[in-house]
Amino acid sequence: MVRVAIIGASGYTGAESIEIILRHSEAELTYLSALPEECGAVEEVFPRFKGRCGLQIEPLDIDKLTGLADVALCCLPHKVSMGFVPKLLKAGLKVVDFSADYRIKDTEVYEKFYQVKHTDTANLKRAVYGLPELFREQIKGACLIANPGCFPTGALLAIAPLLKNGLVETNSIIVNAVTGISGAGKNPSVKFHYPNMNENIFAYGIGTHRHMPEMEQIAGVIAGSDVNILFQPHAGPFDRGILSTVYCHPKKKTTGEQFMKLYKDFYAGEAFVQVCSEAPAVKNVAGTNYCHIYPAFVKDRIVVFSAIDNLVKGASGQAIQNMNIIFGLEETLGLK
Ligand SMILES: NC(=O)c1ccc[n+]([C@@H]2O[C@H](COP(=O)([O-])OP(=O)(O)OC[C@H]3O[C@@H](n4cnc5c(N)ncnc54)[C@H](OP(=O)(O)O)[C@@H]3O)[C@@H](O)[C@H]2O)c1
Repeated sequence: MVRVAIIGASGYTGAESIEIILRHSEAELTYLSALPEECGAVEEVFPRFKGRCGLQIEPLDIDKLTGLADVALCCLPHKVSMGFVPKLLKAGLKVVDFSADYRIKDTEVYEKFYQVKHTDTANLKRAVYGLPELFREQIKGACLIANPGCFPTGALLAIAPLLKNGLVETNSIIVNAVTGISGAGKNPSVKFHYPNMNENIFAYGIGTHRHMPEMEQIAGVIAGSDVNILFQPHAGPFDRGILSTVYCHPKKKTTGEQFMKLYKDFYAGEAFVQVCSEAPAVKNVAGTNYCHIYPAFVKDRIVVFSAIDNLVKGASGQAIQNMNIIFGLEETLGLK
């Protein structure tokens, strides 16, 4: 059994990770930690786990954790995470980090978008971007995984076949996406609080969203050249899910049938990416690790739609998919 610690277990992605590990046949929870004020029996912190998990959530004690776990799922906010990850690695654990701290290789770009100095550049250099469908080989040997952002997961899976095959003008890409409100974590802000969210939908982060440079960096790796992406997020009145619509110009004229075949071939054999014959919907992937994609050709443009659950394929599910790969387990274990 792979022994799993969850750091930041009292948050949304912490709870989703507990849920997945509880049904995993070859991994077990051995240590859960959070800030002292959020500690206690799991089934009291999260009544949904009543009778299903006897562990306590406790303040992090690295000495106690050493020897108790093989891997840490680090579900902490950016900036906080890079204070903990070096200690977890030093204690001999593999780490899957959910924050943005190890995703953006250029520290100047990181510091501009996250408004904080990067304090762990040594580990940043060796972190592997954990999008299994594209970087599976590198993930196998990694000690530290930068688990992708939720919006980049949906957008990159939607455009990867085009970028990899050099089929799009790389300065023409627009990603328009709407997320459910769990994407903002458990502590509501005025904007994302229920009275403002209910029966409402709005754009935010115009030109400044932190997932834009992450998308551009990884799209550039896939394409092998610079990629310019205009990303516009929206928030909608639902709990979980991200629907992305990606628009771009093709390099040469083609047909919808050709695109469909390209996508089906590209994702053949991928357990969690389904190429659909109609536009996807967030309800169809809610609670699952699936990404549904529908590529279309409209007038002279390519339009690709994707849907994921931000808490699963966009966070905890993908992290456990990465964990399975690192430990040589069947990639789908624990996931649905
Ligand atoms: N939500 C998503 O859809 C999603 C998707 C992809 C990636 N992520 C990333 O995953 C990470 C966790 O997100 P989340 O939605 O689970 O957030 P969350 O619900 O706010 O949970 C964050 C967790 O970190 C703990 N924490 C906060 N500040 C801390 C500190 N200074 N020291 C120790 N622990 C601290 C929180 O403790 P308290 O319980 O005391 O607040 C909580 O356990 C973030 O980096 C986020 O960007 C989230």
